[in-house]
Amino acid sequence: MENRIKELTSNAELLIANASDLNAINEVRVRFLGKSGELTAVLKGMRDVPVEQKPMIGKIVNEARDIITAMVEDKLAALTASSINSKLQSESIDITLSSKKCKKGGLHPCSIVVNEILNIFTNLGFQVKQGPEVETDFFNFQALNIPLDHPAREMQDTFYITDDLLLRTHTSPVQARTMMDSQPPIRIVNPGKVYRPDDDATHSPMFQQIEGLVVDKGITLCDLKGILETFAKTLFNEKTKTRLRPSFFPFTEPSVEVDVTCAVCGGKGCRICKGTGWIEILGAGIINPKVLDNCGIDSTIYSGFAFGFGIERITMIKYGVPDMRILFDNDNRFLKQFN
Ligand code: PHE
Repeated sequence: MENRIKELTSNAELLIANASDLNAINEVRVRFLGKSGELTAVLKGMRDVPVEQKPMIGKIVNEARDIITAMVEDKLAALTASSINSKLQSESIDITLSSKKCKKGGLHPCSIVVNEILNIFTNLGFQVKQGPEVETDFFNFQALNIPLDHPAREMQDTFYITDDLLLRTHTSPVQARTMMDSQPPIRIVNPGKVYRPDDDATHSPMFQQIEGLVVDKGITLCDLKGILETFAKTLFNEKTKTRLRPSFFPFTEPSVEVDVTCAVCGGKGCRICKGTGWIEILGAGIINPKVLDNCGIDSTIYSGFAFGFGIERITMIKYGVPDMRILFDNDNRFLKQFN
């Protein structure tokens, strides 16, 4: 028995020394120490050992098991380390190779302008709200004091889907929706796409607007002018001046058109401002009390102002883009200048 164990141990030692990979060492482990392994078989044979020899043989078997286990573990550790090392060597990266040029994407100039404008207004305490692009005639026109067959509809040529559904012609329906489901104080800006069947150098059938709306007690035209002046100075530059000219919108009374001094020539007159020094940027006004009443806000207590402008137009003014269609061409030579 004793010899058998010695032989077994030296066999194991040889096999362990020769095991060249993790599979081989595992096989050795199973062969000697596994459930039906050779050493386990010897242990099972202990039953037949005469009682007086049992302690001595038992000790030898246990020692042999410890020795084989330790050898297996050492070899396992050595093989694992060498397999990691060889992997590290074969998978090494040559960091001296020049890298592939990675082209970075960027935001469209209109998106840059939208983000900038939303930033300005949220800093002034406005909330951002959005509404559906497919609108009902009611929210796009009637709630805003433009009844069916009213001549003011001519100001905004419209894509109709059905008699009652249309592609919104401006972002103003969001102001009606907001007033209908909340009470003052209201201070929102709503960016989004709008649609009108126009297509030339300064008009596109799809364009973007941002509308602003403030409703509270005691709101006047002075508040509107103050907000728009702050806005224009932040968006263009500190020297930008603002002027209001009388205009007409059915949903505001009085209505104004707002001009800013030309950001390109600073007001001296140039090609962009057609020599006038001023550029019209938006429409605005004090909300017509009829609109407040239509939307469930008591016009004897509250007043408000609204303004709306086109993003493409502002982008053209800010960056001196001569033709609106360039903004929709997706020409990389143009787009890349903004990133
Ligand atoms: N909704 C108007 C337009 O698209 C702009 C506007 C908004 C004017 C709010 C006044 C007040 O032409």
